[in-house]
Amino acid sequence: MKKTILPLFLLASVLLVYTNCENANSQTEATTETEVPNEEALLKRGEYLLSIMDCDACHTPKNLTPQGPIPDMTRRLSGYPADKPLPAINKGEITPDKWILFTGDLTAAVGPWGVSFGANLTPHETGTGNWTFENFKTALRQGKHKGMENGRPLLPPMPWQVYRNLSDEDMQALFKAIQNLPPVENVVPAPIPPTEI
Ligand code: HEC
Repeated sequence: MKKTILPLFLLASVLLVYTNCENANSQTEATTETEVPNEEALLKRGEYLLSIMDCDACHTPKNLTPQGPIPDMTRRLSGYPADKPLPAINKGEITPDKWILFTGDLTAAVGPWGVSFGANLTPHETGTGNWTFENFKTALRQGKHKGMENGRPLLPPMPWQVYRNLSDEDMQALFKAIQNLPPVENVVPAPIPPTEI
C-alpha cells in the first residue's frame, strides 16, 4: 500500500509545481504586455488625445486673424511667448477680481489668482525636456508646478482637476506625444500675484 502512495504523492507535487510555474509564466507575460504597450500605438493614442483635449487652447501661441485666433503649429504647445509684451489690464469696470480675462491668443489669463501663463510643454529644457513621466503624472494628478511633489500649486485656468481622471496609460500616451513634439526654446514668465497687477 505505502509503495503506491509515495510515487502518487510525488507525481501530484510535481504536477502542482508545474502548474504553478505555468501560471507564473502566463502572469509575467500578461504584465509585460500591459506595461510595455506597443510604442507606436501609444504615440498614436497620445496624438489623438492631444487633438481632442484642447491643450493647444492655452499652451499654443496663435496668430490673430479676422476669423479668430489660429494656433501657430510651428510653435505648438510652447506656451506664452516670452518675447510678447503683456497687454495692459483694464482696471475700469472689468476688474480681475470679478472677471477672468484671456489675452487674444489665450496663453495668458488674469483672474482673482493674478496673471498665469500657459507653460511650455515642448521637450526643450525650458519646457518639459528634463521631465520624467512621474513629473508629468504629479503635475496632472496633484496640480504641482514642474511635477515636483513640493512644487507650488498650479494656478487656474489649467484644468488639472479634470485631467487628473486620466488613466495611467492615457497619461503615458499624452506624455509620449508631448515628448515627440519639436522642442521650442521659450522661458515662460512666472505668474504675477494679484497684488502686483
Ligand atoms: C484653459 C487653459 C489650459 C488648458 C486647456 C490646458 N492648460 Fe495646461 N496650463 C495652463 C496654465 C495657465 C498653466 C500654468 C499654470 C501655473 O503657472 O500655475 C498650465 C500648466 C500646465 C502644466 C505644468 C507646467 C509646469 O511647468 O509646471 C502642465 C504639465 C500642463 N499645463 C499640461 C497640460 C496638458 C497636457 C493639457 C491638455 C491635456 C493642458 N495643460 C491644457 C492652462 C491650460
